[in-house]
Amino acid sequence: MTDLSLHLMDIMQNSAVVGSTYIEVGIKAEKKKNLLTLYVKDDGWGMDEETVRKVSDPFYTTRTTRKAGLGIPLLRMSAEMAGGGISIESEPGRGTTVTAVYEIDNIDRKPLGDVGETMAISIMGNPELEYHLLLSNDDEEYVFRTEDVRKQIGDLPINDTVIIGYLKEMISEQVNRIFGGILNEIIS
Ligand SMILES: Nc1ncnc2c1ncn2[C@@H]1O[C@H](COP(=O)(O)OP(=O)(O)OP(=O)(O)O)[C@@H](O)[C@H]1O
Ligand SMILES: [Mg+2]
Repeated sequence: MTDLSLHLMDIMQNSAVVGSTYIEVGIKAEKKKNLLTLYVKDDGWGMDEETVRKVSDPFYTTRTTRKAGLGIPLLRMSAEMAGGGISIESEPGRGTTVTAVYEIDNIDRKPLGDVGETMAISIMGNPELEYHLLLSNDDEEYVFRTEDVRKQIGDLPINDTVIIGYLKEMISEQVNRIFGGILNEIIS
């Protein structure tokens, strides 16, 4: 996988298929600490402790179409390569949070990629879910919520192509604003 947004897409897809009603995505760049933190949180059916232990293993999956699950192991590799790691917090019946940490200036840290597009594709595919996106740096925060969008668009469906295009642009603009000059791949 060439960028972190593709990992995010994968982890969001996990959350979308476990009975969740919302998915929260957080991206935090702390320049002073040199840390980039990504997390995906859901209120799906969760995992017990043994499953949490096993999911870092590439040969564990509950999917039936293929023998190995790769989303979480690949996320873990991407983080460990870049001086960081992942953690998984989960409670059966409550939900799951998957967090990945990277050293911002590590030469093996993948670029963030197109977060706007990633969010747009995920929302388009799961229009019944509520999404929250939190972007932050040392000084500023931006919060996007599909609930707010729904209030503004009235009867239009959130997966209307015009709305999706607009959301993608809006998120991309905020990604540039919050991370420009902090993540070297984003020029502010
Ligand atoms: N948010 C989540 N809530 C509950 N269970 C999860 C969640 N994320 C992952 N899991 C469990 O962990 C397993 C491994 O996830 P992983 O993303 O690594 O592989 P996969 O989704 O099975 O396959 P792939 O991602 O390669 O399509 C899943 O099959 C699922 O059982
Ligand atoms: Mg997966």
